[in-house]
Amino acid sequence: MIEAINLHKRYGGFTAVDDLSFQVEPGQVLGFLGPNGAGKSTTMKMLTGFLSPTSGTARILGHDILDDSLAARRCMGYLPEGAPSYGEMTVSEFLRFVARARGLDAGAVDSAAGAAMERLNLGGVVHQPIDTLSKGFKRRVGLAQAILHDPQVLILDEPTDGLDPNQKHEVRRLIQDMASDKIIVISTHILEEVEAVCNRVMIIARGRLLADDTPAALVARSRYHNAVTLVVDNAESAASTLSELPQVAKAEIRDGALTVFPAGAGLFEAVSGAVAQHGWQVRELRLENGRFDEVFRTITRDVDPNTEQTPDQEAGHHAVVEEAR
Ligand SMILES: Nc1ncnc2c1ncn2[C@@H]1O[C@H](COP(=O)(O)OP(=O)(O)OP(=O)(O)O)[C@@H](O)[C@H]1O
Ligand SMILES: [Mg+2]
Repeated sequence: MIEAINLHKRYGGFTAVDDLSFQVEPGQVLGFLGPNGAGKSTTMKMLTGFLSPTSGTARILGHDILDDSLAARRCMGYLPEGAPSYGEMTVSEFLRFVARARGLDAGAVDSAAGAAMERLNLGGVVHQPIDTLSKGFKRRVGLAQAILHDPQVLILDEPTDGLDPNQKHEVRRLIQDMASDKIIVISTHILEEVEAVCNRVMIIARGRLLADDTPAALVARSRYHNAVTLVVDNAESAASTLSELPQVAKAEIRDGALTVFPAGAGLFEAVSGAVAQHGWQVRELRLENGRFDEVFRTITRDVDPNTEQTPDQEAGHHAVVEEAR
């Protein structure tokens, strides 16, 4: 497993990572989330031995990243932020170079480079210098070098940044395929990606751990969890009518959609019953799971210097039609 033990990183007087401790087990795909500057890349750099911690350490499959650095790095594949590589090399030259650096023997170099190129759909650019590739292809070359030696541990810093929708889908599938027996840590700003591939999420801000949970449990913290949203022509009057129901705590209209929040069980049935009873023309009716972006903002708003507006302040911008009686 991965063990991060009281990791600290200071740059001069500035603390980028502030006492992070956590463990990641095989089979876990951990999503690292946090606002810009939260310390995600810095933490990944320390886990992979690229940066020394100011204090604390990490162990990768039992190998201390400071005392036993080479052994720790052998069992890891790392896609650094921005997917750096050697731009003057062709894709094939670069991947074969990485394979040799990883210590693969001559026979295995070609097959490992070939397999990695195939998995990342790099067939069309094998002989092209990396400097001449588009951003998304460069990222895929970075991913190819990370998985080349079939490592037990993968640390991927924004693996799908810059990829087109088809390639995002392919890379998520690749991560899912590799997930069962590996330890995978990814950072991302795409919340739907976390729900699609991660079975654990850590939210950090200002270098501190603020939440560590499953995606489903985090989404369930949303105020929209188990709310019902309708798109209906007569939203104002529907809101007043629905507010009379004992299952409804509150009704809100936002961007033309009416959301009612639960006061107890059976909200969806009660709302569908009212729709049928009154013959409303409903264009959309859905039970909400929760909204990840709202949970993210709620968790990080007090510690993120980039944010000026809190979800509560935003709530003031739309009509709260009926409060709980
Ligand atoms: N070499 C450095 N010298 C000084 N400060 C640095 C250095 N590297 C990073 N920092 C600072 O440390 C903090 C954390 O940076 P880091 O790159 O880890 O953030 P991040 O969570 O990866 O952000 P992003 O989402 O933008 O990638 C930032 O405030 C950054 O400016
Ligand atoms: Mg980063």
